[in-house]
Amino acid sequence: MTETKQSIHGAWSSRFAFILAATGSAVGLGNIWKFPYITGENGGGAFVLVYLLCVALIGIPIMIAETMMGRRGRQSPINTMQTLARDAGADESWHYLGWLGVVTGFLILSYYSVIAGWAISYVFKSLSGSFYGDGDSVDHIAKLFDGFIGSPMQLVFWHSLFMLATMAVVVRGVQGGLEKAVRFLMPSLFALLLVMVGYAMSSGAYQQGLDFMFDPDFSKIDGHSILTAMGHAFFTLSLGMGAIMVYGSYLPKGVSIAKTSFIVAGADTAVALLAGIAIFPIVFANNLEPSSGPGLIFQTLPIAFGQMSGGLIFGTLFFILLVFAALSSSISLIEPAVAWLVENHNITRKKACVWAGLLTWLLGLGTVFSFNIWSDFKLFDRTIFNLLDYLTANLLLPIGGFFVAVFAGWIMLRQHSEEELEIGSAPAYDLWRFLVRYVSPAAVFLVFLNVVGVL
Ligand code: PHE
Repeated sequence: MTETKQSIHGAWSSRFAFILAATGSAVGLGNIWKFPYITGENGGGAFVLVYLLCVALIGIPIMIAETMMGRRGRQSPINTMQTLARDAGADESWHYLGWLGVVTGFLILSYYSVIAGWAISYVFKSLSGSFYGDGDSVDHIAKLFDGFIGSPMQLVFWHSLFMLATMAVVVRGVQGGLEKAVRFLMPSLFALLLVMVGYAMSSGAYQQGLDFMFDPDFSKIDGHSILTAMGHAFFTLSLGMGAIMVYGSYLPKGVSIAKTSFIVAGADTAVALLAGIAIFPIVFANNLEPSSGPGLIFQTLPIAFGQMSGGLIFGTLFFILLVFAALSSSISLIEPAVAWLVENHNITRKKACVWAGLLTWLLGLGTVFSFNIWSDFKLFDRTIFNLLDYLTANLLLPIGGFFVAVFAGWIMLRQHSEEELEIGSAPAYDLWRFLVRYVSPAAVFLVFLNVVGVL
């Protein structure tokens, strides 16, 4: 294992650049689109509490492990796993863990891009004043959304545009445009969320929204909600598929991995909670259903934008920032595959992007049609979109994360992880090791057992 080796794909310019990129990966549709609607579907407070516990006990230790493994391996997750396994004297079939990540990334991006396409389209809807209608605004916004997702041509168009944007950034390498863009977009998104929270405070149902999110009622959750909460902790922190691993492989030496992981996880959680605090009061003030599903933010926020002063500007800005948040996540979903193609097939980054992008785009059509012409087509009782979402977030990411924890805790030599993490204080390192060896894998395992009814 050469300590000074750099990734052939380049390196982040600084610790701050890594924090921005990793936060960019973590903060995305998961926080603003998905967290509110799954919280709504799973009854609120108790679900939020389980999610927060999962972030702390499973997410953060695994984020530290993934970043550490990436930085030590310095290659795409597939090759990193192979190198690390060899170094530890373990079986090289550990590189299949890298493969699992690549496949999971493809599957996630295929539907992620469709939803991000919705967000792009809503930028233009806002700008053209479509959120203002005569008569009942709730009804008007609902019709706008239903008409939109009912049109396969429109969804294909916006999905294609988002995939093109993603590939355009990935071709340039992550450091090029994105490092700079994220630098001011992330703080702007945060500020705009605060504006929305401000509006929610005045909406008349602020307290009701807060109670829904923070007053746990455990009778509202079951094994399935717990699995969803845990899966979401992986999804929102970009863990279990190699995104954080590949970003870690571009991380210079001498940066504290533990500290950066706390910062990234903290920022990610803050954005999700703010999004919920902004959205639920609007839901209750307008007598909407919290459990209305993936359309939730598209059916609630436009009502607020249509009513508040300056709503046209705020609405437009909000959806622009949401698109950028999605973009800084989508590039990390495809980066492990692109890095591997470049390393192992000796093709240019550009070619790798074209192939990876085309494949994802094609897969995404399944999600597009699941909202309209194929909405009655169900496998395991789920539409294609629901199936992909369940398979990736609730199964593949936790399985990937489980094996990352097992590898970091049990397979890698203690000396290697200690060296790489440079935590300094022995108790802090021991605590991390205890968490990845026992707590995180056991928790994932128990949640799975519980959902299949063994517990
Ligand atoms: N974390 C991203 C979000 O919350 C999604 C993502 C998942 C990105 C897995 C990379 C890997 O939107």
